[in-house]
Amino acid sequence: MDKLRVLITWDQIAQKVTEMADRITHDFAGESVVLIGVLKGATIFLADLARQIKLDATFDFISVSSYGKASQHSGEVKLLKDVDQSVEGKNVILVEDILDTGLTLTYLKNIFLARQPRSFKIAVLLDKVPRRLQPIDVDYVGFEIPDEFVVGYGLDFAERYRNLPDVCVLESYSKPE
Ligand code: IMP
Ligand code: MG
Repeated sequence: MDKLRVLITWDQIAQKVTEMADRITHDFAGESVVLIGVLKGATIFLADLARQIKLDATFDFISVSSYGKASQHSGEVKLLKDVDQSVEGKNVILVEDILDTGLTLTYLKNIFLARQPRSFKIAVLLDKVPRRLQPIDVDYVGFEIPDEFVVGYGLDFAERYRNLPDVCVLESYSKPE
């Protein structure tokens, strides 16, 4: 049996997501936005955030993976699925579950900036500040968290636990079969 400890409750997340959405609504008043979720971890955050943003909005999704072992970020990121629409001239908000080393978001930021959007912003629910290898500025941050492995609210461990309503620390785990 894996051992989980609640770090951020669903209530706390809901309140924070509303605050983030209010800021986005204010920052883009009168404009349209494209919310681009990074699969699969950001899907739940995007769904909640989007429903609180009071703007004309569309969704798109992108999928990436890092080369090498999942536990040790190799620094190379591979694009598995690109967005479906052109982002040229649009207000892009990249929506990600967690900012860890910063390598994934740096890679994605470079991709999108090259496509000449009208503006480019990043929204992350969680930020593991002590883990950063690549400095990156993010525009909307939910919670800064310590260097612990977390699951729930979209985040997984070997694809499990994404459906937990709270963000939990995975304190220990039994070896997968
Ligand atoms: P980065 O390139 O190291 O910033 O990687 C960010 C990605 O690593 C996220 O999109 C997550 O998929 C994954 N990740 C990093 N930390 C955690 C964690 O604590 N739990 C689950 N996934 C994580
Ligand atoms: Mg992810």
